[in-house]
Amino acid sequence: MSFGSNPAFLASIVECSDDAIIGKNLNGIILSWNRAAQNIFGYSAAEAIGQPVTILSPPDHIDEEPRILERVRRGERIDHYQTVRRRKDGSLVDVSLTVSPVKDADGKIIGCSKIARDVSRQKHIEMELAKTRAVLEERARSLETAVAERTTRLQQTIADLETFSYTVSHDLRSPLRAMQGFAEAVLSGYADKLDAEGRHYLERISNSAIRLDKLILEVLNYSRIGSRELSIKPVDLDKLIEEVVQTYPTIRESNAKITIKHPLHPVLGSHASLAQVISNLLTNAVKFVRAGAKAKVEIRTEKHNSKVRCFFEDNGIGIPQNSLSKIFEPFQRAHAHANYEGTGMGLAIVRKAIERMGGTVDVRSQEGRGSTFWIELPAAYL
Ligand SMILES: Nc1ncnc2c1ncn2[C@@H]1O[C@H](COP(=O)(O)OP(=O)(O)OP(=O)(O)O)[C@@H](O)[C@H]1O
Ligand SMILES: [Mg+2]
Repeated sequence: MSFGSNPAFLASIVECSDDAIIGKNLNGIILSWNRAAQNIFGYSAAEAIGQPVTILSPPDHIDEEPRILERVRRGERIDHYQTVRRRKDGSLVDVSLTVSPVKDADGKIIGCSKIARDVSRQKHIEMELAKTRAVLEERARSLETAVAERTTRLQQTIADLETFSYTVSHDLRSPLRAMQGFAEAVLSGYADKLDAEGRHYLERISNSAIRLDKLILEVLNYSRIGSRELSIKPVDLDKLIEEVVQTYPTIRESNAKITIKHPLHPVLGSHASLAQVISNLLTNAVKFVRAGAKAKVEIRTEKHNSKVRCFFEDNGIGIPQNSLSKIFEPFQRAHAHANYEGTGMGLAIVRKAIERMGGTVDVRSQEGRGSTFWIELPAAYL
């Protein structure tokens, strides 16, 4: 007889198993009961053998054993059936059952073997995991709600601030116009009563008032971009840029050489906002040149997947590297005001308008060599 088929050896394997191994006949009467069965269910072999296996069934699972036996009689095997059994002391234990038919030498089914694995620890871990998951989900939900509420509050604050700056800017203009008007009136009506110095001071008052009015207008412009409704449509950049070059006097009369690399790719955006963006970029490109030099600007587009980049490359004075990150902020200028007129709001307006259209704007520049600004927007199909 080989070692593996030695009955004592096989019995010892059954005895040493951590899983309960129970033999029963087709009527469900327990015929064999190993040590693990005793450990899990609390009955000794002497107490269990000869009893119906239903001593292990809790009342609400009483019909399970007859159904299992019915399937075994048909020759079926039941694998990893998750259920609950009752111990001798009445407590419940989660088990995974594997039940297989046992056949005699002629192949006739005479009973079945049932392996019951105690899965209560696993079940406990699963429950703990489910609880933790529920807690985490709840936390994620409340975090989302908190973020949404905070975003709404922030949007409201921004809108309030924009309305506030709009109103203030608007109201500042009338006393300012009065100052300018009276300065002009004194200059024209009382010029002969003033000496040159007096006239000079009045001129400076008048010019400062004009400049402050320009600044206020730009602030108004800036706050309007945040609140006005945008109508986003395909925009033909070839046409729009020609229009801007022809209609903006500072660009048209600048004597700059503006080259457009037709055809430009169309983009999705607001026609009015894009006109404002392009006019600001072109005004800068023709303004920031060395005194007496002829400005050259090249405009071209590149398509990257679903986005279009439109480049504005100039041969101007360039921008110092340490100013590059600031120039898109309101009132930030990189060059002396005395040499180049401006309020410092142009690029702030560009960035806000582009971002409202779902795009981006950036620049690279080398001092003394020129700058390349670009805007990126979703591509459109005309
Ligand atoms: N093409 C350019 N070449 C060199 N410097 C530039 C260029 N464009 C912008 N800058 C620098 O960035 C600063 C900010 O530009 P922005 O258009 O906001 O203001 P501005 O032109 O001075 O005033 P505004 O546009 O309000 O009249 C400019 O003052 C200038 O120093
Ligand atoms: Mg400008």
